[in-house]
Amino acid sequence: VRVEFLDYEVLGDYGWSLDDEDLFRKASHADLDDDEHGRLLVQPDESLLEGAENRGFGWPFSCRGGACANCAVYVVEGELSQPANHIMPDDLAERGFRLSCNGYPVTDELKIVFNVKHRAELDDLIL
Ligand code: FES
Repeated sequence: VRVEFLDYEVLGDYGWSLDDEDLFRKASHADLDDDEHGRLLVQPDESLLEGAENRGFGWPFSCRGGACANCAVYVVEGELSQPANHIMPDDLAERGFRLSCNGYPVTDELKIVFNVKHRAELDDLIL
């Protein structure tokens, strides 16, 4: 599964928003570091977080068990599964927020913004 990723902190630096339709196009044209924007391959038996870690990226996490939201990502394109046992509220899940520690890609391509734990909506979930 091909995953294109973008660090949420970059959005603040550039004044971009999660809703920007051309967010990833803008990211491609900005001079971002390899760990801020890029692509990685996630294997079928890897969660998104494991895939990132196994390719050498250090994305945020804490519990690794669906209980804290430190690992939260925002899905811009594609779909990431979400096991039943997790703390992400339905309204945030509907908007595209997922947990990367126990989320597995279910589409061949995925575009995600990682590091969204800094979003105000997720404040109450961070332990
Ligand atoms: Fe805690 Fe993913 S690391 S929910």
